[in-house]
Amino acid sequence: MPNSLFSAVETAPVDPILGITESFRADSNPRKVNLTIGVYQNDKGVNPVMSSVKQAEKRWLEEETTKAYLGMAGEPRFGELVRELLLGPENAVEAAKRAVTVQAPGGTGALRVAADFIHTQLPGRGLWISDPTWPNHNGILGSAGLTVKTYPYYDPAAHGMRFDDMRAALEQVPGGDVVLLHACCHNPTGVDPTAAQWAQLAELFQRRALVPFFDFAYQGLADGLDEDARGVRIFAEQGLEMLIANSFSKNFGLYRERVGSLTAVARDTATAERVLSRLKLTVRSNFSNPPAHGGKIVEIVLTTPELRQLWMRELTEVRERIAAMRRLFVETMAKLDVRRNFGFLLAQKGMFSFSGIGREEVLRLRKDYGVYMVENGRINVAAMTTGNMDYLCKSIAAVIGK
Ligand code: LMR
Repeated sequence: MPNSLFSAVETAPVDPILGITESFRADSNPRKVNLTIGVYQNDKGVNPVMSSVKQAEKRWLEEETTKAYLGMAGEPRFGELVRELLLGPENAVEAAKRAVTVQAPGGTGALRVAADFIHTQLPGRGLWISDPTWPNHNGILGSAGLTVKTYPYYDPAAHGMRFDDMRAALEQVPGGDVVLLHACCHNPTGVDPTAAQWAQLAELFQRRALVPFFDFAYQGLADGLDEDARGVRIFAEQGLEMLIANSFSKNFGLYRERVGSLTAVARDTATAERVLSRLKLTVRSNFSNPPAHGGKIVEIVLTTPELRQLWMRELTEVRERIAAMRRLFVETMAKLDVRRNFGFLLAQKGMFSFSGIGREEVLRLRKDYGVYMVENGRINVAAMTTGNMDYLCKSIAAVIGK
């Protein structure tokens, strides 16, 4: 037999999030719990389709008249609605027509469009990500050819932010470099800057001519739609130019529809239009034009008053259930009389927390109890339920010891 064309191809490393979820699916333990991938579950352990989304889909099934391609930037109305969510109603950026948006397949697609744009249009600039960050940031940015470096972010001993260290590091970053910031619900730590800290960062970015690049995947999952946008809006009010990749996977529950977008805020309309032309070219050479379905559902929900109201109520339920699970987890662990105190989880926001559970413990939890979390100890609080909490906490207690 001649050698295979592919004989030199080596097996890829397992993805730290999606790969572990594959192992979870194969696990036959009936009590297994999956705290790896960031997907919301209701208290029945099911990822539900929101009613607002279902109703919009029913309507669209009737009203849709064509399956012809969207334009490279997607639907213009979708772009306007995205900017309103990100920057607030009647914001100065929109009034001055300084922002443009391209629709993309999920937040990941938007990040990739941004990465290609930075690589081709802002050449030679470094790209800085927080330590730690979502592991796929390295994959997406690296495969676009960007050189990725890190700035300090998280203090494992205090379970909080190393804000002074972060600022000191950003003071040393070469002017003009691009710095990726998590707009809210920092993935994987759940630790976000306060409004005062955002203001300090905006001043620093302005003074040092750093380029803000927001990853905004969890709007509405921390404190509320407007509250979660405070960092982005503080930067916008300072007049900073920036890139914002956002996702509707989590706040609309549209994970598998792959709907997100990339917004560029520029100095003036003419600059914004030039940037848009380049973003469209990037879209064209990556996936030609975006998938339509998810974006249309977002558009229908946001522009139909009763569906928008319903969606906001459903999103509030999601946010409140996550917060309730945080409290229940902390209380349940406290009752089990373990040496570690998990009270710090209460100050963290969104789906994720850095549990402080070590790698060896994570592997034992997986093997002996069917409890799956990311190897760095990240847990998805949104997958905890009143039904799995006891088993989950007792398993953790058994592994971390008294
Ligand atoms: C996560 O961090 O779990 C989510 O953003 C899903 C993903 O693609 O990794």
